[in-house]
This record gives sequence, C-alpha cells and structure tokens, in this order.
Amino acid sequence: MSTKAAGIPVIAIDGPSGSGKGTIARQVATALAFHLLDSGALYRLVALATNRREADPADEENIASIAASLDARFSTDEYGSEQVWLSAEEISAELRTEECGLLASRIAALPKVRSALLNLQKSFRQVPGLVADGRDMGTTVFPDANLKVFLTASAEERAKRRHKQLNDKGIDVSLAALSRDIEDRDRRDSERSVGPLKPAEDARLLDSSNLTIDEVTLTVLDWVQEIEWQ
Ligand code: C5P
Repeated sequence: MSTKAAGIPVIAIDGPSGSGKGTIARQVATALAFHLLDSGALYRLVALATNRREADPADEENIASIAASLDARFSTDEYGSEQVWLSAEEISAELRTEECGLLASRIAALPKVRSALLNLQKSFRQVPGLVADGRDMGTTVFPDANLKVFLTASAEERAKRRHKQLNDKGIDVSLAALSRDIEDRDRRDSERSVGPLKPAEDARLLDSSNLTIDEVTLTVLDWVQEIEWQ
C-alpha cells in the first residue's frame, strides 16, 4: 500500500531556518486538527543524543545507529506548550539552543542518518492528516503530499526573528553572530547531497518577509481550500 493510497492527507511546509515554518505549521495543524511533525526536532534530538554520548559527530555509522534507536516522545504540557522527551528526560529548552541547531545541521548532512530517520518521520502520517515541517518534507519524505509550501524570508529578516525569539527566552546572543550561524546553516542545508533544502518542483513559494504570522497562516489555509483531497 503506498502512503498516498493510505488516503491520509499531508501538508508539507519546507524552508530555511527562521522562515517561520514551525510556527505556521503549528497554526495550520491546529486549524485543521491535524497531527504535526517538527522534523527538525528529530535531527536536534539526534544531535543532543550524540552530545550526551560524547560520540564523534563525523562517525556516520554510529550517529545513524543513534538515530535508528532514538527514544523520542512529544507531548503537550497543561499550558499547551510542546514538550520533547529523550528517554525519560524533558529536553525542550536544550533542543532549541543555537548550539544544538548547528550540530543538528552537521549530522543532518550524513546520508545514513537521514535514511535512519525516514520511517520514523513517515510514521507521523496518521488520520485525520499531518502537517510536516522541515527541509525535505515535500521532496523526500512525503513526495506525494497534497500541498507543498516552500516558505522563505530574507536572511536579514530571519536573523532578526531568531534574535527576538531567543531574547524573549532570556537568551543573550548578538545579531551578527546569529546572521553568521544562519548563513552557515543555510549553506550546509542547501549544499548537502541528500535531502538538500530546495523547493519541490510542485511547491508553492511564499515569501514571508513582509507578512505577519497570521497572514502567512491564512494564505496556507486558503491554499488548503483549493486542494482536491483524494
Ligand atoms: O528546523 P530546525 O532549525 O529545527 O532544524 C535543525 C536542523 O536540522 C536544520 O538546520 C537542518 O540541518 C536539519 N533538518 C534537516 N531536514 C529536516 C529538518 C531539519 O536536515 N527535514
């Protein structure tokens, strides 16, 4: 049975870091009462597990085996905030640090790590439907997605957003350092040989530089209305 034949709709939202895809994906999933896959969190979890085990991030076989045996769980706390668990430990805050994001982008360039996470990502496709955000949702993980959105924003705008996000959490980091990190990550994500960051041929492009979060969400929900669900 192909995943499409399973008849469970998928909306893929891809884009570079800071494009707002995580927030948009969450809002769209909530509006449609669909499940949510934050695929970046899986790569971040592998990065964290790599750090915890003091494993060499360049050791592809070892990192792929860490990815294949990942004991990850997602939940929501009493205030509606997402919680991510690695084994019995709640690690949501640690997962969001720049350090974790950078290590995630290094290990995400390893082909065996990407394939080790493939089935886990596909397993999020559950009724009534899924909104999946990442870099290769529309190209590799769910090539048959019913709607593919590629969300962009200028590098400057993305660095500013990330800066505000971290400041709001009390994390002090310079805008210049953040811009450099974002550029590094963009380059690595776009240049890797497997699952690179690029729009699917049938993706709809959306530049969010001058749009509010709600405007972007409404645009995506309008597109959802246009889809012929099969
Ligand atoms: O989206 P987020 O910033 O949490 O992702 C962290 C890193 O994980 C990205 O920089 C990217 O290298 C990697 N990633 C990926 N493929 C995905 C999602 C994330 O390679 N589908």
